[in-house]
Amino acid sequence: MRHTLDAERDRGLALAAAATTLDDLEAAQVAVIGRKSAFSEVQRSLGGLPEDDRRELGRLANEVRATLQEGFEARRDALRAQAEGMLLDADRVDLSLPGRRLPEGSLHPLTLVEDEVVEVFTRLGFRVAEGPEIEDDWHNFQALNIPPDHPARTMKDSLYVAIPGHPELLLRTETSAVQIRTMQSQPPPVYVIAPGRVYRRESPDATHLAVFHQVEGLVVDEGITFADLKGTLEAMARGLFGETRKVRLGPAYFPFVEPGAEVGVSCFICDGVGCRVCGNGWIELLGAGMVHPQVLENCGYDSERSTGFAFGVGIERIALLKYSIPDMRMLVDTDVRFLEQFGAAS
Ligand code: FA5
Repeated sequence: MRHTLDAERDRGLALAAAATTLDDLEAAQVAVIGRKSAFSEVQRSLGGLPEDDRRELGRLANEVRATLQEGFEARRDALRAQAEGMLLDADRVDLSLPGRRLPEGSLHPLTLVEDEVVEVFTRLGFRVAEGPEIEDDWHNFQALNIPPDHPARTMKDSLYVAIPGHPELLLRTETSAVQIRTMQSQPPPVYVIAPGRVYRRESPDATHLAVFHQVEGLVVDEGITFADLKGTLEAMARGLFGETRKVRLGPAYFPFVEPGAEVGVSCFICDGVGCRVCGNGWIELLGAGMVHPQVLENCGYDSERSTGFAFGVGIERIALLKYSIPDMRMLVDTDVRFLEQFGAAS
C-alpha cells in the first residue's frame, strides 16, 4: 500500500505537470484521486488493517492527498494565468499605429453662398422667412400682380403639379411668393430674406438651370425709398464680392414692382469686356424694385402709409462669380473632385 501511495503521488504530480489545458488537468485529477482511483482504493482498504498500520498508512495517505491537491491547484492557477495571457495578447491594441482617418466632408458651394448671403443680411438686421416650394396660383402669380391673362405668365415657363382637386398648384417659379406669405402673416415693418429652391421649364446651359436657388429680400416700412434699395444692394455686393466688382442697375419690368431694376455684376472672366460665359460683359445677378402699391394692398397693407423694396438674387449666379466657376451645370454634376475644393464643413 505504501508503494501504491508513493507511486500514485509521483504519477499524479507528473500528470498535473503534463496537462496543457484545464480540461486535461481536471481529467488527471479525477483519475488520480477520484472515487475509482488506486489512491481511493487504498484509503478504502485502510479500515481492514491492524491499528498501527492503519494509523501510519492513514497519515501517509493524507499527506499524499494534500500534496496532490496542492500540485493540481498550483497547475490550475498556472494554466488559468496562461489562458488569460493569451487572451490579452490576442486583444492587444498597438497604440503606436496611426489612426484610421474618416474622409472629411465639405459644404456644397451653394450652401456656402446661401450661408454667406444670409449672414450679410442678418448682420443688417433682416430675419429669415420661408415658404413652400409647391405654390398656389394666387401666391405665385395673382397676388404679385400677375392675373390669369397676364403676358408675364408666358415669360415664366412654369411646371404645374398634378394633384387631384388642386388644379392650380405649381412649383414656384421664384421666391417672390414668400413676399406675399410674409406680409399676410405680419404687419409692417418687414425686413426679411427668404432663401429657397425655385423651378422653371428651362434648358440648362452655362448660366441657367431648371432647378435653381434664389434669395428673396423684402423691406416694407414707412419712408422706404429707391435709395434704400440701392444702398442695400451695394452693401450686399460689397459683402459678397469685395470692392473690385462693378455693379450696374438697369431698368427692368417685373409686374410686382414699380419701378423695377435688373442688377448685374461685371463678369469675373472677361472683367466686363464680353465673353462666352456672360455675352455682354455683365452677369445678371438679380431683379429688384419698389414693391407695387397694389401688391401691398393685396396683402392688406396701407400703401399710402408704407412703402418697400424687394429683390430676388440667384444663388448659382453668385457662386459662379465668387468661385470663378465657368459652367453652372458643374454645381449639380456631383463630381467629388470639383466639390471637394470648397473646404471642410465647419
Ligand atoms: C425674378 O425671379 C424675380 N422674382 C426677381 C425679383 C424679386 C424682382 C423681387 C423684383 C423684386 P428673374 O427671373 O430675373 O427675376 O430671376 C432673378 C435671378 O435669378 C436672376 O437674376 C438670376 O440670378 C437668377 N436666375 C433666373 N433664372 C435662372 C436660371 N434659369 N438658372 C439660374 N439662375 C437663374
